[in-house]
Order: sequence, then C-alpha cells, then structure tokens
Amino acid sequence: MNFYSRKLIKPEDLNPNNTLFGGSLLRWIDEEAAIFAICQLNTDKLVTKFISEINFINSARAGDIIEMGMEVLKFGRSSITFKCEVRNKFNKQKIITIDNIVFVHVDENGRPKPHGVTTETPPEIDQAVVPA
Ligand SMILES: CC(C)(COP(=O)(O)OP(=O)(O)OC[C@H]1O[C@@H](n2cnc3c(N)ncnc32)[C@H](O)[C@@H]1OP(=O)(O)O)[C@@H](O)C(=O)NCCC(=O)NCCS
Repeated sequence: MNFYSRKLIKPEDLNPNNTLFGGSLLRWIDEEAAIFAICQLNTDKLVTKFISEINFINSARAGDIIEMGMEVLKFGRSSITFKCEVRNKFNKQKIITIDNIVFVHVDENGRPKPHGVTTETPPEIDQAVVPA
C-alpha cells in the first residue's frame, strides 16, 4: 500500500470528545479515493458505487498528522476496487481501515462503460507517494 495525502488535525476537525470527527475523516477519504480512482483509470467520468464496512480503530487528536493509503485490489470491466487505510504518520498506528471501495466508470448517460485498464499505474509517477 502506498500513502498519499497527509492532513494536520486541527481544532475544527474534532468531535465533542476532542478527538477526530468521523465526518471530517470520511470527507477526506472520499476525496482521496476519487483522486486515486481518477489517476488509476485516467478518467474523471467515475462515480462511487460501494464503500464497505468502515472500521474506526484508533482516534487522532489535534496536532496529529495522518496519512491516507490506497491499494488496488481489482480492475473490473467498468469498475475498480481498492482498499484504504489511514494511519498516524509518525507512530504508524492505524486510525481507520476500509476493505473495499468501488468506483464505476460511466458514459454520458450515467451507465457503466468499460474503462479498459488492467494494470496499476506505478506510484513512482506521483511525487507525493510514501511507500509503506
Ligand atoms: C454506478 C451505477 C451506474 C452502476 O449501475 P449498475 O446497474 O449497478 O451497473 P452494473 O450492475 O452493470 O455494475 C457495474 C459495475 O459495478 C459493480 N458493482 C455493482 N454493484 C456493486 C456492489 N454492490 N458492490 C461492488 N461492485 C458492484 C459490478 O460488478 C460492475 O463491475 P464490472 O463492470 O467491473 O464488472 C449505478 O448504480 C449508479 O448510478 N449509482 C449511483 C452512483 C452515485 O451517484 N454515486 C455517488 C454516491 S454519493
């Protein structure tokens, strides 16, 4: 798995318990997943189809830096399936895991359309990547 964007947890990202608000984290993951899918399939004609169970493992606090990792599991005909992990950048503690995120390539009518991609785009082309 390769880790891409980093985020600094700020006071506005916290819940009433003063730990990272799940909604903020999910918004960041949704955006990161979309960017990952677009880069892998080389098209922005994609929609989120499925996000599996989300396991909140550990919390994060203001001042922590987190990083988001993605790994392709499968290239389908119109779909791409990948998994996601968010961890603390410094102590590597897992914050969240998602086993399956599926995006579907669609045509101008919003119907599934083959994307023709069968292999993963190498992470070296993304300068922001941090190998696990
Ligand atoms: C995405 C959408 C076009 C797919 O339509 P559909 O009728 O389910 O299409 P299909 O059954 O042909 O499936 C298309 C692909 O999705 C996959 N798929 C469908 N349902 C799935 C599910 N529940 N889990 C995982 N993959 C799924 C299929 O396996 C297929 O993959 P493949 O082409 O690589 O083999 C349609 O469901 C849709 O428009 N959903 C709304 C998307 C959206 O608005 N997302 C934003 C959410 S906020």
